[in-house]
Amino acid sequence: MRPIHVAPSILSADFAKLGEEIKNVVAAGADWIHVDVMDGHFVPNITIGAPVVKSLKPVTPVPLDVHLMIENPENYIEAFAKAGSDYLTVHIETLKNPEEMLKKIRELGAKPGLTLRPSTAVEKILPYLHLVDLVLVMTVEPGFSGQSFMEDQMAKLKIVREKLDQLKSSAYLQVDGGVNEVTGKLCRQNGADVFVAGNYVFKNNYAEAITKLKALT
Ligand code: DX5
Ligand code: ZN
Repeated sequence: MRPIHVAPSILSADFAKLGEEIKNVVAAGADWIHVDVMDGHFVPNITIGAPVVKSLKPVTPVPLDVHLMIENPENYIEAFAKAGSDYLTVHIETLKNPEEMLKKIRELGAKPGLTLRPSTAVEKILPYLHLVDLVLVMTVEPGFSGQSFMEDQMAKLKIVREKLDQLKSSAYLQVDGGVNEVTGKLCRQNGADVFVAGNYVFKNNYAEAITKLKALT
């Protein structure tokens, strides 16, 4: 398996000094920066938009991994791609035409990612895996940081891993929500290679938390 990548979610960072937080977390070993975009419709919370991604781009020396938890993403992907998103991940529940959307993201110069809510059947995303560079299996209900990890999503993770292997796909397999050194171990055992972590990184010593996640087997 590929080495683990850690993508701290800035939702748990200090928004008054985001640039500095990114600098510190990258110095502590972060491989990507995860940006949670919420619209108050698809999820009951509002966070940040494309202008913030644009401001963060020049101060972020690693890929920006943008997780769109918004309705009608077709209206916003161009702005997020132009703002400098490296990975642009959309929720299957929000897509009218998944194939068209994933191709459009690639045309716009970003790497397409596909994700699903914990309550959505994994079968919904399987037909589109050949079109993506990243699959995200949510391990909490999207909307907030600091929630408890849903272990029942591990079956889904395993199915996606098997399907990606069958396709000989090099897409990353990411988990997001309640990830720490204990729950992360389960994710690793079921084939995840990118670990998003909000509270676990930002509420602890950054370097220690990231190092522990990267050492999981
Ligand atoms: C949840 C977000 C997550 C969240 C992770 O909707 O997609 O990225 O911020 O935070 P923790 O790791 O604290 O669960
Ligand atoms: Zn996220």
